[in-house]
Amino acid sequence: MSNLEEFNHHLTSLTSSGGCAAKYSSTKLSTILSFLQTEDTPNVLIGFNKNDDAGVYKFSEDLALVFTVDINTPIIDNPYMFGQIAASNALSDIYAMGGIPIACLNIACFPNDLATNTIKDILQGSLNKIQESGAVLLGGHTIKDKEPKFGLSVIGTVHPNKIWANSNAKPGNVLILTKPIGNGVLFSAYKKKLVSEIDINECIRSSILLNKSAAEIASNFNLDTATDITGFGLLGHALEIAKASSVTIEIDTESVPIFSKSKAMYEQGISTSLTKSNLELTYLNSQIKKELTASQINLLNDPQTNGGLLLAISEGESEDLLNCLHKANLIKARIIGKINEYSGKYLTLN
Ligand code: CO
Ligand code: CO
Repeated sequence: MSNLEEFNHHLTSLTSSGGCAAKYSSTKLSTILSFLQTEDTPNVLIGFNKNDDAGVYKFSEDLALVFTVDINTPIIDNPYMFGQIAASNALSDIYAMGGIPIACLNIACFPNDLATNTIKDILQGSLNKIQESGAVLLGGHTIKDKEPKFGLSVIGTVHPNKIWANSNAKPGNVLILTKPIGNGVLFSAYKKKLVSEIDINECIRSSILLNKSAAEIASNFNLDTATDITGFGLLGHALEIAKASSVTIEIDTESVPIFSKSKAMYEQGISTSLTKSNLELTYLNSQIKKELTASQINLLNDPQTNGGLLLAISEGESEDLLNCLHKANLIKARIIGKINEYSGKYLTLN
C-alpha cells in the first residue's frame, strides 16, 4: 500500500469516532471527574473543576502558566494536513484563555505498520503550526496503538489579571464567533467518501488555521471571556460559559456562520458520533424561541476540531473588533448573540 492508502486504511478502519476525536460526553465526564478530589492552592487560578479551556497556575504576580493537552484520531487522509489540524486544535485552548503558547510536547500513538513517511508528515505538519504559533517543540512521547492518534500538550503564558475565564461573562456583552461551524459533519461525510477534499476545501483551510490572529486582535480589546469551539459544539461551549458565569446566552441562529454543505449533510442524514450527546446536553438547557429544523439544531451541536473562538465583548467595542477580524482575513467572523441576565435556562435560541 502507498503511504496515503495505508493512512487511509487506518482512517477508514476507525469506527468509534465521528467528525473529531471520540471523547466522552460532557455529562459522563463530569460525573467521573467529580470523584476526584484535587487540592487547589491560591496559585491555582483555573483548576480542574472549572470546565474551562485550560488550567492556569499563577507563577508570580505578573505571570501565570496555561496548561492544556489535546489529541485527535485522523479526520483526513492527508498526514501533513492532519498534523497541522491536530496541532492547531491543541494550541487553540491556550488562545481561548488569552494566553500565548510557548512550548509543546508531541503525544503520538501510532500503529506498528504506519509508514515512516506518514509519521514524518504528521510530525512536520504539527511542527510547522507550532513554529507559526511562536512556540517551540521540546520533545514528546510515542506509544504503539492500533488506532493512530496525535496531539500536543502545550504550555502558554498569560498575565494573571488578563485571563479570559469562562466565569467572567457579563450581561450586556455580545458574542463574536471567528470561524464558521459544521466541520464535524463534513469530516464525517468525508470519511464516508460522500464529499471530496476539494468539496470541503474551505472547511479544511479553516480547520488548519490557528486561532492566533483572532486571539491577538481580541487582546487589543477589553475582553472578559472567550472559549474555543471544539468537541461540544457551539451550543455546548456556550453552555460552559453560561453555567460558569450564571448568565443566559442568547444565540441569533440566523447569524451563525456555517460551512457550505454542512447543513446539506445533516439534511441527508449524515451525523457525527458526538452530535447526539451534545444535543442531549444543550437541549435541556435551552429555551427555543424559534422554529428550527432538526438539521439546524444538529449543526449548532456539531463537534468542531479547531473551531473558532467565541469572544464576549461590550456592545460598544464589538463592531470595532469585528472589523479588525475581517481585515485580518477572518471574513466569516460574525456577531452571533449576546449575554443576558440568567432567565431560567442557560441558552436561548432565537
Ligand atoms: Co477549549
Ligand atoms: Co481542549
